[in-house]
Amino acid sequence: MQTKRVGPNENDAAQEEDDPDGPADHSPLAGLHAIARACDHPGPAMSWRQFTASVRSGPGGERGEAWVADDSGRIDHARTDRARTDRARTYDGRTSSGQGGGDEVTGGYLLHFPQDDNTHLALLRLMTRPDRRREGIGGALLDHAIGRAREEGRRVLVGEAAAGGPGAEFAKARGFSPASTETRLVLDLRTADWSGLELLRARAVRHATDYSLERWVGPTPADLLGDMARLTEGMNDEPLGDLAIEHQRWTAGRVRAREEMLARAGQRTYTMIARHTASGEPAGFTQLIVDAERPEGWGRQSSTTVLAPHRGRRLGLVLKLANITWFRACEPSVERVITWNSVANPHMLAINEAMGFEVFDTWHQWQLDI
Ligand SMILES: CC(C)(COP(=O)(O)OP(=O)(O)OC[C@H]1O[C@@H](n2cnc3c(N)ncnc32)[C@H](O)[C@@H]1OP(=O)(O)O)[C@@H](O)C(=O)NCCC(=O)NCCS
Repeated sequence: MQTKRVGPNENDAAQEEDDPDGPADHSPLAGLHAIARACDHPGPAMSWRQFTASVRSGPGGERGEAWVADDSGRIDHARTDRARTDRARTYDGRTSSGQGGGDEVTGGYLLHFPQDDNTHLALLRLMTRPDRRREGIGGALLDHAIGRAREEGRRVLVGEAAAGGPGAEFAKARGFSPASTETRLVLDLRTADWSGLELLRARAVRHATDYSLERWVGPTPADLLGDMARLTEGMNDEPLGDLAIEHQRWTAGRVRAREEMLARAGQRTYTMIARHTASGEPAGFTQLIVDAERPEGWGRQSSTTVLAPHRGRRLGLVLKLANITWFRACEPSVERVITWNSVANPHMLAINEAMGFEVFDTWHQWQLDI
């Protein structure tokens, strides 16, 4: 088995502009994308545009790279061939033509290196093609990833795996420890109790009369970037269990860089902030995200935070309810919204449950000192 580095090349970048539907080639990176989509089932899966953007950088500006394993060692560059693209995208672990680099990819990993803080960490997403598991491919890829992380001076590797799945067994077998637990929760917008949610919002706003809401789609207006940096730093209060993760420092520039990354990834954001009317201070925010070209029925509830001095006034609930009502009106094709909730965060769990979110599955973050 050979392991080779792959990356979005110039052709891939051109496709991102023209062809959000998927990779028009069977490059090794397209093969890895197909495996990632198979692993993500039945949850939301990344579009090609989102996947290639995520290879370049993570949501906090982490520098990324992708590596693939194959049996032949062959690597193909991006090509534009739509017929083969479709098959790659619907790869289910059984179809394989044996032609081209993408078909021969047996597994791979994405590795992200935080840049602005947490420079002791490397964040790993490792996957083996479903029909090629238990052959030692994942183990060899992990050894390679550990080598890459060490070369970059990183001391701790962190990866996620669904509870009860092969990733958890693999992580245990390879000496990782479970460092935090999160549930994924889903709200079905087609069956949600919208009049009940409106009543809930009307009752909650009575506790938050000193605040006003502001909202926008896409990038933050330039004069609000400083507010967004302060609000995003509020996410540092999220419970992280035993994860060896330091506080993230957010600046206006880093907020903008994240937004540029999301735009490259084809993601449309719906942001709502609460402002304390008397002082003019930002108090809290929430964000929903949808893949602008390939929503596939899914929306993602991303960060929500209320800064410490403003907690206890139902602002979290008010923000999330107002945002999801607006989001639903703007994105009629979205059927379900998914969110992550640390089990050590009962306040957010209570908000999600009040809104009707239901448990989808449970994940652990696994950590390994290297
Ligand atoms: C996790 C994953 C990458 C493992 O890949 P793999 O190629 O099957 O791994 P290996 O063959 O090298 O397995 C190494 C050891 O891990 C353990 N292991 C792996 N899968 C297991 C399973 N389903 N049940 C029990 N043990 C398992 C075993 O000890 C195995 O050694 P053995 O086969 O000699 O008993 C693969 O199952 C996968 O892609 N899962 C979905 C994505 C994921 O969860 N990734 C991990 C998060 S970063």
